[in-house]
Amino acid sequence: MSRLVVVSNRVGDPRQANTGGLATAMLAALRERGGVWLGWNGRFDDARAGTTQHYSDDGIEFVTFALARRQGQAYYNGFANRVLWPLLHARGDLVDYQREEYSHYQDVNHLFADVLQKRLQPGDTLWIHDYHLLPLAQRLRERGLQQAIGFFLHTPLPGVDQLRALPRHTELIGALAACDLIGVQTDADLHALHDYVTRELGARLLDRESGLYESRGQRFQCDAFPIGIDVDSVQAAAARAPRLPAVQRLRSSMGERQMAIGVDRLDYSKGIPQRFRAFGEFLQRHPQRQRQVSLLQIAPPSRGDVREYRLIRDELNQLAGAINGAWADPDWVPIRYVNKSFAQSTLTGFYRMARVGLVTPFRDGMNLVAKEFIAAQDPADPGVLVLSQMAGAARQLDSALLVNPHDLTGVAHAVETALAMPQAERQQRWTAAMDTLRRHSLEQWRQGFLDRLRDAGAARRATARP
Ligand code: G6P
Repeated sequence: MSRLVVVSNRVGDPRQANTGGLATAMLAALRERGGVWLGWNGRFDDARAGTTQHYSDDGIEFVTFALARRQGQAYYNGFANRVLWPLLHARGDLVDYQREEYSHYQDVNHLFADVLQKRLQPGDTLWIHDYHLLPLAQRLRERGLQQAIGFFLHTPLPGVDQLRALPRHTELIGALAACDLIGVQTDADLHALHDYVTRELGARLLDRESGLYESRGQRFQCDAFPIGIDVDSVQAAAARAPRLPAVQRLRSSMGERQMAIGVDRLDYSKGIPQRFRAFGEFLQRHPQRQRQVSLLQIAPPSRGDVREYRLIRDELNQLAGAINGAWADPDWVPIRYVNKSFAQSTLTGFYRMARVGLVTPFRDGMNLVAKEFIAAQDPADPGVLVLSQMAGAARQLDSALLVNPHDLTGVAHAVETALAMPQAERQQRWTAAMDTLRRHSLEQWRQGFLDRLRDAGAARRATARP
């Protein structure tokens, strides 16, 4: 088996609580197969920029490096998170494009290519992740590297009209044509990719079955690979979790009350303020539920150097205070709002305790919290998932209560429906969702992508030979 080298902006830390779907999924995937994970160490350090550090954990070899402050800030806080992230999540109104930041973004991708070039072996398989590293495959090909290269986008891909709004978009997105395989989360993302490459890059679809395209002499395949979770390990962790002190404390503090739960990085794409408002509306419409149910919202702060993230944090502080001020009693608060991250094992215990899981993003590539919430439930007495139809996960989990996150009354109704749902219906919906999770597991995602990448890489090398 060829060595797997995973590259992403940030590497996951097996010893720490992880936030974000990419870290959660890749740690689990690399644990199963082993391999190298290379990325930024999350620090800015002018003296050591690009100097690699190496360590092994959980059978994974980690290679990380710092970025120079000015360049790294422009790349990560600037172009990646103030241009690409909002654009990909259909928030064109938040895009703040600066030419200089774009050029630093390109330079950081050159740096990733330099670091990789020194470490790659001829038979390696390279798997690049997410929007921070769109040009990387092209930078590697320019350096003469012939290894199989796959790219997976964890975020949604908007329509061609929105992508066209990005200055120099053909240069940036066109660089993906240097990959052997481009993977996206859903069929909708795949349609958007097809439209983009055919209309803006002039690519020709050579083979519909394999999704093989050709553009300016480069051949690449495109397909949807919906990311999954390791169902058995989440289930096992959730079954053990009631013994954890943090889970026991939460249980006893809730008493006889029901709990709804939301777990999200503190990000404007997640729809948390609207979720809080919807919960307030639910309490107003169903006075009999007052004092009987609380929403636990866990929202670890994220990307705090970016203005929009500070603003949403302020907004949520204010909103949680206002809703609790309006409804709380001395012995009950409607919203328990926690800005900390928790170990995966603890979260599974929290999910299992909740009667309602609230996952209501405006846009989300997949959303693994939705899947983990399902897998963590007690089969005898499962909770109900209220899921935004705008999350990639909604295309698979159609037995959830699907909501439009803009329709606060609809979300409030769904919370009540979930709380009132008879056990037999909860079990029926849960069983259907579990079937889907097992059919689209993390293992299938990883193996499905890597098998396709192996074949696509071999096909390219065969046609490249004189
Ligand atoms: C999302 C992105 C990932 C990112 C994660 C955490 O899941 O798709 O690429 O790593 O958020 O964001 P951060 O900026 O903290 O790495």
